[in-house]
Amino acid sequence: MTVHDKQDLLDCTKVIPPANVAIIMDGNGRWAQACGLPRVEGHRHGAKVVRDITEYCREVGVRNLYLYAFSQQNWDRPADEVQALMTLLEEYLWQEIPTMRENGIKLGVMGDKTLLPSNTLRALNQAMEATKHCREMNLVLAISYGARDELIRAAKKLAAEGTNPEHWTPAMLSGYLDTAPYGDPDLILRTGGELRLSNFLLWQASYAELFFTDTPWPSFRRTELESIFNDYQTRQRRYGQTPAQTAQLTERRVGRRKK
Ligand code: FPP
Repeated sequence: MTVHDKQDLLDCTKVIPPANVAIIMDGNGRWAQACGLPRVEGHRHGAKVVRDITEYCREVGVRNLYLYAFSQQNWDRPADEVQALMTLLEEYLWQEIPTMRENGIKLGVMGDKTLLPSNTLRALNQAMEATKHCREMNLVLAISYGARDELIRAAKKLAAEGTNPEHWTPAMLSGYLDTAPYGDPDLILRTGGELRLSNFLLWQASYAELFFTDTPWPSFRRTELESIFNDYQTRQRRYGQTPAQTAQLTERRVGRRKK
C-alpha cells in the first residue's frame, strides 16, 4: 500500500454518506461532442465513471445507490445510440460480475424490463443471480425506467389487492414501487448542468436533498461526490417540522452514523 492509498483510506473514514443515493448521469453526449467524439464515446467514458463512483460509494458506506442508466424516453433516441447503450450495459454487466461479487455489491434493477433486448436482459438476470447473496451495497440500475410508468404499475397492483381505496395510504403505494426493497433516496444528484428530475423517482424524491452540478458525467470524479456528501451533512432535513425539532433529529442521526 502506497502513502497515497493510506491517505485515501484515512480520507474515506471521514466521509459520512447518506444511506440512499440516486444519480442522474447526464452530459455524456455533450461531453463527447465537446471533445470532437461521437456521442457513444461519451457513454463509454460514462461507464468507466460508473465503475469508480460505485466503488467509492461502497467504500464510504452508501447502502443503496440508484443510477439512472436509461429512461423510458431514451427509447426515442436514434436507433444506433439505443443499440450502443444496450450493448454497453450488457458488456458492463458481464465484466463487472466478478468485481461486484468480490466487493459485496448486489445488483438490482428498476423499470420496465419487458422492453429490453434479450441479450441485455440475459446479462441483467445473470448479474442479479450471481450477486444475490451480496450484502455490502445495493446497486440499482434504472433501465427503461420512467417514474410515471412506475406509479401506474404500482397503482394497478394496489388496486388488484381488492382493498378499499378509502384505506389506501402512501406507504401502501410505496410498497409496490420498484424501490420498495431499498427505500427513498436521501440525496439525488444530477450531473451535466440541467436542473430537472426528468421522470426519475418522482414519488420517492419527496424529501430528498437535491444537488446539481455542471460537471458532465464523464468528467465526474469521487472527489466531487465527497464534497457533495459533506455538503449534504450540513443540510437540515425538516420533513415539515420546525428547525428546533429537526435539530434534535439531525444530531441523533449523525450520532448514530458516527458510531
Ligand atoms: C445521459 O446523457 C445519459 C444516458 C442517457 C445514458 C447513461 C449511460 C451511461 C452513463 C453508461 C452506461 C451505464 C452503465 C450503468 C454501465 P446524454 O446522452 O443525455 O447527454 P447529453 O445531455 O449531453 O446529450
